[in-house]
Formats: sequence, structure tokens, C-alpha cells
Amino acid sequence: MRPSIRFILFVSVALIASFGACDAALGFSETPYAGRSDYGDSCWYSNCHAVANTDGTGPHGNYSTTSQTCSLCHTLHDASNSGIKLLPQATVTSMCFMCHDGTGSPGSGVYGAIIGRGLTVGAEHSVNATSVVPGGDPDGGSATVAFSESGLLGCGDCHSVHGNNTVARFAGERARSSSNDTFRNTELRSTRLLKTRPGVATTSVAEYGSDWCLSCHLGRSSGSAVVHNHPVESSLTTSAPYVYDRVPRMYSNSSTSTQVLGTMGRLGTDPATGLTRVRHNRAFVMPWPRTTLQTGHLPICMQCHEDTRYVGEVGAVAASVVSVRDGSSSTDNPRFQNFPHETLGYRMLVESTRTAYTDDLCLNCHPLAQLP
Ligand code: HEC
Ligand code: HEC
Ligand code: HEC
Ligand code: HEC
Ligand code: HEC
Ligand code: HEC
Repeated sequence: MRPSIRFILFVSVALIASFGACDAALGFSETPYAGRSDYGDSCWYSNCHAVANTDGTGPHGNYSTTSQTCSLCHTLHDASNSGIKLLPQATVTSMCFMCHDGTGSPGSGVYGAIIGRGLTVGAEHSVNATSVVPGGDPDGGSATVAFSESGLLGCGDCHSVHGNNTVARFAGERARSSSNDTFRNTELRSTRLLKTRPGVATTSVAEYGSDWCLSCHLGRSSGSAVVHNHPVESSLTTSAPYVYDRVPRMYSNSSTSTQVLGTMGRLGTDPATGLTRVRHNRAFVMPWPRTTLQTGHLPICMQCHEDTRYVGEVGAVAASVVSVRDGSSSTDNPRFQNFPHETLGYRMLVESTRTAYTDDLCLNCHPLAQLP
């Protein structure tokens, strides 16, 4: 077996830890960790499923004098010649796919899960394939950018592998793979290792919102002297822009005008029902007339660009149901939570088919009563 294949096997086994202890072939101790009979000592100490992994960072952080993490990715003396930075693979992106690969059964991961379920990808941020950013030129056209994988866009352009220099934590909505992880049943607020300077950005972005996307899509902002885009909230339009973790959302699925400020992701506690860990679609619609929370504000990118789903409308927002990970249930809404890696819909728009967006998207915020 080539070392890389052996590594993939080991990692697969390590990640599917619900089956039992880690694979001894990795040189990991299979002695069950006291108190967690489902994990071997090393699975636990290696920091993938570890005591310290209370924030979803896995092997990408919480490094300490007692953790054993570096060796998961770095081969100290016998790395292959094609390898970089003492890594067992030729590129950083192929390195990431060793653990985050969705192409194989059971199709878990941020890329590959859609094809893995026999469906067609509608839009994506493809990796190792392009250096052209649509709307990347400040004047609205495309721009060619020197990304990290020999000029092509790779995982490392958006993510910081050691968890350094990242945006503030936020509540996401993706169902995580590890069925046994310690925070499976808690709200997961993490940085998603998102770099404060994605791509070749020279200014830092502290929070995940429009400004983060605009680091690469410079020509999709409001306020350009050359192009007129749909209005969008960013630091160019207001001094304290709304971000993914802080936008006005409908107070409940049935509210017609009341909004609260909070996350687009999973709610710790739903103020309307008192229930915890609630997924919702309440930030994709805006009531008309607009509310005071919206005065002086515009939608952020993710209120239009997110995982393909049915949103409903003001007063009848559709429930968000994710019953299982990686799109295994065709009735889940959204079925996949892979944005911005890949989505079912056109241009990664929430309400869209694979080839076009529908008026449903526009009607989320512009009801017929508003139109002149
Ligand atoms: C999840 C995999 C992973 C783990 C765990 C990991 N690294 Fe890395 N490391 C990488 C990758 C990928 C790169 C290359 C990053 C790049 O080139 O952008 C890298 C690069 C480095 C570099 C070179 C930085 C440079 O700019 O030249 C050092 C030093 C390093 N790692 C040390 C460590 C140490 C020390 C630990 C443990 C505390 C560790 N790494 C854990 C994946 C990992
Ligand atoms: C050795 C296996 C391994 C490798 C290699 C690896 N990861 Fe991870 N990664 C994990 C595990 C395990 C988690 C934690 C998952 C969980 O607990 O839900 C994780 C979590 C993440 C997260 C979520 C972090 C958060 O704070 O929510 C991101 C983003 C991520 N990895 C990106 C990458 C990228 C990019 C690379 C390549 C540079 C990479 N990973 C390489 C195993 C790995
Ligand atoms: C264009 C930027 C971009 C690229 C390229 C990219 N990602 Fe991400 N990734 C993101 C963003 C943004 C999020 C957070 C999405 C959210 O929570 O809504 C994310 C989230 C993740 C997560 C955590 C998902 C969760 O469970 O919350 C993982 C794992 C991950 N990315 C891995 C990768 C890997 C591996 C690659 C390369 C094969 C990659 N990403 C390439 C932007 C990117
Ligand atoms: C690191 C730079 C970078 C960041 C950050 C980034 N993008 Fe992109 N984006 C790209 C590139 C490059 C492409 C072209 C991808 C391709 O051709 O596969 C792209 C493509 C797109 C597309 C068109 C996809 C299609 O297939 O039609 C949309 C929509 C988009 N991005 C929206 C966003 C949003 C929203 C964000 C923030 C969540 C974001 N991007 C963050 C670089 C980036
Ligand atoms: C009000 C909804 C809305 C908002 C907000 C929005 N977009 Fe879009 N975006 C669209 C629609 C609709 C399309 C498809 C246009 C078409 O193909 O006709 C699109 C297309 C795109 C494309 C691909 C095609 C192109 O012309 O470049 C990119 C890239 C993009 N948007 C980036 C962004 C970014 C980055 C933001 C935030 C700064 C953003 N969008 C905010 C609705 C929106
Ligand atoms: C997430 C909410 C949201 C969605 C979805 C949305 N819009 Fe908007 N749109 C706004 C807001 C907010 C404004 C600012 C004016 C206002 O409050 O109506 C706006 C403004 C506009 C304007 C006025 C532009 C200007 O420069 O003055 C037009 C035209 C428009 N939208 C068309 C659309 C179309 C077409 C779609 C569907 C592709 C769409 N919008 C989707 C929220 C949204």
C-alpha cells in the first residue's frame, strides 16, 4: 500500500470512530480512553475527537504540550519528495481531502456529497481548477488572481489550517460528520478556520459577512462608480454592517413584522419557543414595510447566496429540517449544507433551480404589495 492510501484508510477509520476504537495500523493506541469506551486513547488525545475539541476545531487547534496533533499531518523525516512543508501530499488541498473527502461512500464532506448522492452540482467554488473570480474586478468584470495552489483556488485560500488569524466564531448550520462528537447535541459556534484575509486580500475582515466575500468579489459591492449591483450591506455602506451571525430575522416562522437581531445559523435558544439548537430559515425574508432594524441596512450576500432550500415567505417561513448529515434525506430543507463549497442551485442562490433563479427568491423580500 502506498503511504498515502494507508493514511486515507487510517483517517477514515479514525473519523468513523463511532465504529469503535482507532485503527492500530496508525500506530495509535487502542486502549479505550477512560470514560469514553467508544474512543481509543489516541483518538481522544490526538485532538480529533479529543477532550480539548469542544469547539469543532478538531486537529486544527487547541494545541498544547499534552496534545498529539502535529504528527497527524506532518511527516517529520520521510515525507515524499513531491511533498510540501513535510506533508504527505503534493498540495495542501489534496492534504485536506485526505480527511474531508466527500467523493467516496458514505459521501461525507463539504465537496463531493452532492455527486455522492447521484445529483448534479449547480454551482461551486471549485478547487485546484480556476484562478478567475467572477465579479472580482472592482469595475464588475472578472479578475484573474494568483491563488495558493500554483495560482489556482484551493482550500488554503479561505481556510487557515492551524486555526490562526481567523474570523470571530459564529453559529453555522451544517450537520457534522462525526456521529459521536462531543458537541453533536450542542450549538456549535466556531471560526470554520475562515481566514481574516482570504485569497490575496490585504485588509482583514473580523466577522463572516459580506465583507468576507468582497475580499475576492470586489466588484459585487454597493457603491461602485462603474457597476450597479443589487444593494448589499458591507463596511462600504455602513459603519457597523450586519454579518452572518448578526442579521435581522423574523421572530418566529409565523411573525409578519417582528424581527430580532441574531444569527442566520443554528439558534442556541429560540426566543419564540424556548427550544434549543433550532435551525431556521427566518433570515432569508424581509417584511414590507421594512422594520426599524432594517433602516439604513441592506441584505448581506448570504441572504441570497446560501444552500439551496425552500424559504417560504413572511408569515409562513418554511421550517428548516436537517435530520441526517450530508444530504442523505431527500426531504431535508436544506438537503445539503455545503455552501459555499458547492450547492444544488444556480449561482449558489437559495431559491433556484440548477440553471436559473426563480421569482420566489425576489418575493422573499419584495412582496407584490411593495412593487409600484
Ligand atoms: C490538519 C493538518 C495539520 C496539522 C494538525 C498541523 N499542520 Fe502544520 N501545516 C499543515 C499544512 C497544510 C501546512 C501548509 C500550509 C500552507 O502552506 O499554507 C502546514 C505548515 C506548517 C508549517 C510551515 C509554515 C510556513 O509558513 O512555512 C509549520 C512550521 C507547521 N505547519 C507546524 C505545525 C505544528 C507545530 C503543528 C502542531 C502543533 C502542526 N503544524 C499541525 C497542516 C497541519
Ligand atoms: C487528519 C485529518 C484532517 C486533515 C488532514 C484536515 N482536517 Fe480539517 N478537520 C478534521 C477534523 C477531525 C475536524 C473536526 C470535525 C468536527 O469535530 O466536527 C476538522 C475540522 C475542520 C474545519 C471546521 C473547523 C471549525 O472550527 O469549525 C475546517 C474548516 C477544516 N477542518 C478544514 C480543513 C482544511 C482546509 C484542511 C487542509 C488544509 C484540513 N481541514 C485538513 C480533520 C482533518
Ligand atoms: C471560497 C472559500 C472557500 C474555499 C475555497 C473552501 N472553503 Fe471550506 N468553508 C468556507 C466557508 C465560508 C465556510 C463556512 C460556511 C458556513 O458555516 O456557512 C466553510 C466551512 C468549511 C468546513 C466546516 C463545515 C461545517 O461543518 O461547519 C469544512 C470542513 C471546510 N470548509 C473544508 C474545506 C476544504 C477541505 C476545502 C478545500 C477542498 C474548502 N473548505 C474550501 C469557504 C471555503
Ligand atoms: C478566496 C476568494 C473567494 C472568496 C473569499 C469567495 N469567493 Fe466566490 N468565487 C471565487 C472564485 C475563484 C470563483 C469561481 C469558482 C469556479 O469557477 O468554480 C467564485 C465563484 C462564485 C460564485 C459563482 C458560482 C457559480 O458557479 O456560478 C458565486 C455566486 C460566489 N462566488 C459567491 C461568493 C460568496 C457569497 C462568498 C462569501 C460567502 C464568496 N463567493 C467568497 C472566489 C472567492
Ligand atoms: C438580493 C440578492 C443578492 C444579494 C444580496 C447578492 N447577490 Fe450575488 N447574485 C444574485 C443573483 C440573483 C445572481 C444571479 C444573476 C444572474 O445570473 O442573472 C447573483 C450572482 C452572483 C455571482 C455570479 C455571477 C456574477 O455576475 O458575478 C457572484 C460572484 C455573486 N453573485 C456574488 C455576490 C456577493 C459577493 C454578494 C455579497 C457582497 C452578493 N452576490 C449579494 C443575488 C444576490
Ligand atoms: C434578502 C432580501 C432581498 C432579496 C432576496 C431581494 N432583495 Fe432586492 N432589495 C432588498 C432591499 C432591503 C433593498 C433596498 C430597498 C428596499 O428596502 O426595498 C432592495 C432593493 C432592490 C431594488 C432597488 C435597487 C436600487 O438600487 O435601488 C431592486 C430593483 C431589487 N431589490 C430587485 C430585486 C430582485 C429582482 C430580486 C430577486 C433576484 C431581489 N431584489 C431580491 C432586499 C432583497
